[in-house]
Amino acid sequence: MSKFSDRYDPGPQVAQCGAINLGTKDLEKSLTFFRDTLGMEEVERHGNVSYLRCYQELGHHSLVLTEQDEAIVNAYSFRVKRPEDVELFQQELLRQEIEVLEVPAGTEAGRGTAIRFLLPGGEHPFELYYDITKPLAPEAMRSRLPSNSSKRRGLGVRRIDHFNIQTSPSTINQAEKWVRDTLGFKRREFAYLPDSPETVMASWMSVTPQMHDLAMVANRAEKKGQLHHVAFNMQDFSDVLTAADVLRDLDISYGVGPGKHGIGQAMYLYIHDPGSDHRVEIYAGGYLIFDPDWEAIEWTKEAFPDGMTWYGEPIDVAPGSRGRDTTGAAGLHLPQRSAKAAE
Ligand SMILES: [Fe+2]
Repeated sequence: MSKFSDRYDPGPQVAQCGAINLGTKDLEKSLTFFRDTLGMEEVERHGNVSYLRCYQELGHHSLVLTEQDEAIVNAYSFRVKRPEDVELFQQELLRQEIEVLEVPAGTEAGRGTAIRFLLPGGEHPFELYYDITKPLAPEAMRSRLPSNSSKRRGLGVRRIDHFNIQTSPSTINQAEKWVRDTLGFKRREFAYLPDSPETVMASWMSVTPQMHDLAMVANRAEKKGQLHHVAFNMQDFSDVLTAADVLRDLDISYGVGPGKHGIGQAMYLYIHDPGSDHRVEIYAGGYLIFDPDWEAIEWTKEAFPDGMTWYGEPIDVAPGSRGRDTTGAAGLHLPQRSAKAAE
């Protein structure tokens, strides 16, 4: 007789944010930032494609840096809960008449078969996978703690935390609802556009007890497929302050922060990778949700400034400010890599 938990079938589910594949015009500069400054481990490199992970990630990678002509996002990848969920999601996408590509095992090193599609209403390239290798770090880098893949170094980012993506106000409701209805994300906190109270301005959603694994925001320039930032998690608020201090002294485009969000209650610091110019958030703290009956918290226009910045340097979203900058994404098909990158 099998265990009850084995007989219970919840259907296909997303487990977590897995990885982001960022196009960069200058791989060496991006590596200096992510590997040497933030402290990620470069697990593998093929030509001009590099695979990195944080010190508390056992899986092969959470970041892929691909040197290419355009600094766009090649893929937002999510890991699913069971091996069969990849195919079950594929069947559901086809049922919804969404075009799906199969991404063969090894297309991203260390990863099994994935499926790729464009988020309906968002056009962000999403990939779903289950299988990923868990390689040991080289002995000199390996941690004596078995839950850490390598020794902590650099500024000490410990894992990928969340994606903050943007799409057009005219399609954000469709995209946000699709992510909840099909991928199973739960809406945790949200706000409507002040001048359009039926339209989502921002929604923070999760499949884990984190308050958000994915944030979706209405793009003021009406652009779809945009990345605002990818966040990496640090252990403590003090780590974010140390990072702010260190990064001030380096040749890095310093964005906003440090400060603390009211929404999610985490400390933030926004910076830009000098190689790709994609925005990265250094993130620590935040509350966790265990209530099965959590009701999404709505932020009014009046309260919203506290939600964005509880204390610290406010996020500048005035017209023309850098806070509004976003980066685009690849379409359903990956952009052509240079010959060197394809090695
Ligand atoms: Fe964020």
